[in-house]
Amino acid sequence: MATYIVNGFSELPRNEKLKWLQEQVGLSQSSYQLLEEHLHSDPQLQKIYADISENTISNFYLPLGLAPNFLINGHLITIPMVIEESSVVAAASHAAKFWAMHGGFHTRAEGIEKTGQIHFTWNGTEEVLHQAFRRHEEHLIQAVGPLIHRMEQRGGGVEKIEIRSASPHLPDTYQLFVTFRTANAMGANFINSVLEKMAGEWESRINSSGTMGALKVIMSILSNYTPECRVTCYVEGDYSIFREMDPHMSGEQFALTFKQAVDIAVHDPYRAVTHNKGIFNGMDAVILATGNDFRAVEAGGHAFAARSGTYRSLSQVELSEKSFRFSLEVPVAVGSVGGLTGTHPLAKVSLEILGQPDAEQLMQYTAAAGLANHFSAIRSLITTGIQKGHMKMHLGNILRQLGASPEESASVTVHFKDRQVSFANVSSYLESIRNPLSHP
Ligand code: MEV
Repeated sequence: MATYIVNGFSELPRNEKLKWLQEQVGLSQSSYQLLEEHLHSDPQLQKIYADISENTISNFYLPLGLAPNFLINGHLITIPMVIEESSVVAAASHAAKFWAMHGGFHTRAEGIEKTGQIHFTWNGTEEVLHQAFRRHEEHLIQAVGPLIHRMEQRGGGVEKIEIRSASPHLPDTYQLFVTFRTANAMGANFINSVLEKMAGEWESRINSSGTMGALKVIMSILSNYTPECRVTCYVEGDYSIFREMDPHMSGEQFALTFKQAVDIAVHDPYRAVTHNKGIFNGMDAVILATGNDFRAVEAGGHAFAARSGTYRSLSQVELSEKSFRFSLEVPVAVGSVGGLTGTHPLAKVSLEILGQPDAEQLMQYTAAAGLANHFSAIRSLITTGIQKGHMKMHLGNILRQLGASPEESASVTVHFKDRQVSFANVSSYLESIRNPLSHP
């Protein structure tokens, strides 16, 4: 625990920040050592990582893994994934390989339009406001001209500005609802810069033009609700392709049970949240690997899942004539240029692995990874249960933590094939191998 409120912390050099940390928290020498060891040996690269955020004292590693064999719209893609959950890359890879042998993933990006809002209050009449908007609309576009010039050259820009009432619950509150195209960029900074400039112009024009009423801008910000950036993605096949999924189920039983599992998430929000989390396991991993904003995509995806007024599954299963179709519809507002995609050295590598996709391709690859992970999760849930796969990966992590040798790991793996894996159990068994005399 710290003992006082610190001022000017961000301005301190790194070594001073660490000194403060040591004084305040009593950081152990070994932890200090670890922070040092996780710095990049190349100072230029370290500066890039440090500058991504504020108050950086070290780097926090996560693995960058590969899920090969993604057949997406007829092209074989290797998908880079960054994730802390140990079973995600394996799950994506298994599903990718399975579906590559059965037609692959069929994906389509429905659009790339995004929205920004300028929220304001207005104490005059709605009619006067609408008239004023029509008079000034063109000037608002002109005012942001220098900001959107380059984006227009790349095929983006401001598509449309509408004026809307906020809600019947918020009298005198309105918004300019601005539709953007951001080419291959996710475009958050672009949208926010344009909105802020436009908001200033809007407020000053209305208040200085003798219009009957006063206008006050409250805030200007993009919306992370991006239903126009929807991706649809599906896999399909005959029931017979599932005949070896589980020794206790026919292909047809597997398909029917799979549908039951998905239908539960269509109707039960408690299940739907976990069900959709299994989709975001795969999507987030690609979003992180390519330097995109996974919180933005998650927020938009969960809101989309609740668009009917009830939170539901983002995926669905349709069965017809012994044929199974598993589909996903989800907004995926990501970009392949701009932001961290161009500055994080490994995000650039991820995009290279993906073949330098444009935004729409990246959106589709992300959704395919989501559907792949989701397929593996439901498959495990309705067959072996989820813990078998998780525990296999978990066991590996425990063995690493306990410093097990390859021989010890092999012996522990055999021992725990049908036994309960926990840190305590593995540790105790390992101890019994290492010191057989103290464990009769
Ligand atoms: C775990 O990270 C994801 C699952 O819970 C998803 C699901 O329940 O469908 C297995």
